Amino acid sequence: MTNYAVILAAGKGTRMKSDLPKVLHKVAGISMLEHVFRSVSAIEPEKTVTVIGHKAELVEQVLAGQTEFVRQTEQLGTGHAVMMAEPVLENLTGQTLVIAGDTPLITGESLKNLIDFHINHKNVATILTAEADNPFGYGRIVRNQHGEVIKIVEQKDASDFEQQIKEINTGTYVFDNARLFEALKNINTNNAQGEYYITDVIGIFRENGEKVGAYTLKDFDESLGVNDRVALATAESIMRRRINQQHMINGVSFVNPDATYIDVDVEIAPEVQIEANVTLKGQTKIGAETILTNGTYIVDSEIGQRAVITNSMIEESSLADGVTVGPYAHIRPGSSLAKDVHVGNFVEVKASSLGENTKAGHLAYLGNAELGANVNIGAGTITANYDGQNKYKTLIGNNVFVGSNSTIVAPVELGDNSLVGAGSTITKSVPADAIALGRGRQTNMAEYAKRLPHHPQNK
Ligand code: UD1
Ligand code: CA
Repeated sequence: MTNYAVILAAGKGTRMKSDLPKVLHKVAGISMLEHVFRSVSAIEPEKTVTVIGHKAELVEQVLAGQTEFVRQTEQLGTGHAVMMAEPVLENLTGQTLVIAGDTPLITGESLKNLIDFHINHKNVATILTAEADNPFGYGRIVRNQHGEVIKIVEQKDASDFEQQIKEINTGTYVFDNARLFEALKNINTNNAQGEYYITDVIGIFRENGEKVGAYTLKDFDESLGVNDRVALATAESIMRRRINQQHMINGVSFVNPDATYIDVDVEIAPEVQIEANVTLKGQTKIGAETILTNGTYIVDSEIGQRAVITNSMIEESSLADGVTVGPYAHIRPGSSLAKDVHVGNFVEVKASSLGENTKAGHLAYLGNAELGANVNIGAGTITANYDGQNKYKTLIGNNVFVGSNSTIVAPVELGDNSLVGAGSTITKSVPADAIALGRGRQTNMAEYAKRLPHHPQNK
């Protein structure tokens, strides 16, 4: 039997108090809508329709090319939103999953179970439900004395008795596709919020004597609907716990998983060790046996095997096997560090490449520079890459030795095996095998210090 899916993402999310549409708020690095879309993909829908409305262009960008879109120009309720999908899905045979874009924790596994349950029970509609300790705010599942689902009643419409019900509607359902759109023709806005509720079709099916059921999640956490930023932070912490657990199962060690922040698409090889207060964001990959110490923050970067990153920040860069960075180093976008490179404390590297085994141990700035292999950059070395208007390149060959506190004014090239004396200001290229001294000569004035007040003889 063919599966279809409708994702509801037209609402503003007033309770978020945000300019950003609610479903675009991120959980562990990707939007709630993308989380929902990925889970929906597990049921392999033949068609997925995403209902957009508030700031539709922004929402559309996030899933462009992956789903069909329909517009709900006025947000008249969840039932009205589903109606918008009718032109795409009418007359199709199969079952349609309807899911809200603000429930990022529902897993693909649960959606598959829901579909199987729906088919096995030959239901016209099956609701995904959960048992909540505090059901406030959710629609409640009303059952009769035989335990059969009768209807869903919203928080604002619930009687005192109904408010005691702990079984809640997750906002996810599977319907017989044709019957869904027929039943939607009979819903109205006679309720506390004056909206068309998708939940009302359940009562309509029951009154027609059609078979309605509920599949209950084992884990309430999955059902969390994010309506405000308190729930957003809760979703974030649940998602992170899930991500970290999966990495631990894959062989990654954490000193304190509760204080380690890893986005959903980050890949980590086995035998990696991660200390507390480490953040790994975006499309980051970490190679086997690498160590990330406390305070390390890595964004969209690839780190090789057996690297050690100590309390440092790395952005949009690639670091090969055996690289050591930090403490307190900053590798900025567009940098690549070859095998066994060492970048030490208070070193900033920007849009630069460092060849194998090259070392910049202390207090240096390397920007728009290409360094060969086995280069030694002395403490305090600066590539002066900017004249106030343009950026220029510094080219440094293999086996070059740059003495401490040198300023290398780009554009300039240091040839292979050359040496720059400490304290030099280099404005002209240095040929291979040459020594360059770009500093004033030292003069020593014998006995002269004795004339000065600091000298012990004069006190
Ligand atoms: C809804 C359910 C409630 C359930 C809860 C689960 C209804 C009437 N109520 O309530 O039973 O317990 O979800 O989280 O369905 N949307 C549109 N167009 C609209 C209105 C909403 O696209 O006109 C979208 C929103 O963007 C959101 C989703 O539908 O992604 C749910 O809407 P929301 O207003 O959050 O519904 P709840 O009040 O949470
Ligand atoms: Ca909601």
